[in-house]
Amino acid sequence: MEILKVENLTKIYGKDETKVVALDNVSFSVEKGEFVAIVGESGSGKSTLLHLIGGVDRPTSGKVFIDGKDIFEFDDDKLAIFRRRQVGLIYQFYNLIPILNVEENIILPLALDNRQADREKLDELISMLGLSERRSHLPNELSGGQQQRTSIGRAMITDPAIILADEPTGNLDSKSSDEIVELLKKSNKEHKQTIIMITHNMEIAKIADRIIKIEDGRIVSEVGAASGSGVSSKMDQNAKKEKDSKTGAVAISEVGAE
Ligand SMILES: Nc1ncnc2c1ncn2[C@@H]1O[C@H](COP(=O)(O)OP(=O)(O)OP(=O)(O)O)[C@@H](O)[C@H]1O
Ligand SMILES: [Mg+2]
Repeated sequence: MEILKVENLTKIYGKDETKVVALDNVSFSVEKGEFVAIVGESGSGKSTLLHLIGGVDRPTSGKVFIDGKDIFEFDDDKLAIFRRRQVGLIYQFYNLIPILNVEENIILPLALDNRQADREKLDELISMLGLSERRSHLPNELSGGQQQRTSIGRAMITDPAIILADEPTGNLDSKSSDEIVELLKKSNKEHKQTIIMITHNMEIAKIADRIIKIEDGRIVSEVGAASGSGVSSKMDQNAKKEKDSKTGAVAISEVGAE
């Protein structure tokens, strides 16, 4: 089932001599339960794309459908509500509310909706995030990894249609970074959570089902498919094929098929 459809998305900032085409006619779809990594150089348009998908900003032209809904047909108030319920956002610098503790930060999207957290589900989530001992702590009393795990909790508490993560490990050491990646992978595998994640780290990108590469606001390549096996095995296969072809070991039938 298609959970996200991006259609001819274009975003132009400024005009005349300050005009920047940040996103240039981008189209792609994501299936429910897919884990997609977005890679590309600084300034290539990755964050712009993520913000548009999340309804944080509006495009110059083009459409975004989440779970079949054309999100830019909503007025700003409706879009804010839709975003709160259906999109989980994770940022490089966590964006936690400094005066709210771990638990309060996690349940914030529900509180803003005048909804109560299901106690059992909240306890389970906090324990899954490894934050049981920290639930009454304020963000400035937490390590970077703990803060990021809190923001993952906030993104997951509403069971969103889609989680969007912009460099979620960009500010973390390799151990904390591994923990964050494990958590995202787990929610993807166990809860079929659809995730789109921007990363500069190719090792991290490889755990995704598909890697979309962006250059100058355009998609220049897509590796992998919604197979659930991760891109790394496909990359290994490709690398092997390449190596085999160099050593002349490619089977005739395979050459014929290509
Ligand atoms: N609010 C804005 N006003 C004007 N130009 C902007 C704005 N936001 C982004 N841009 C420009 O749009 C282009 C794409 O920016 P974007 O933030 O999407 O890049 P990115 O791929 O996320 O880069 P990074 O890896 O450094 O985070 C850049 O050239 C940037 O300068
Ligand atoms: Mg960015």
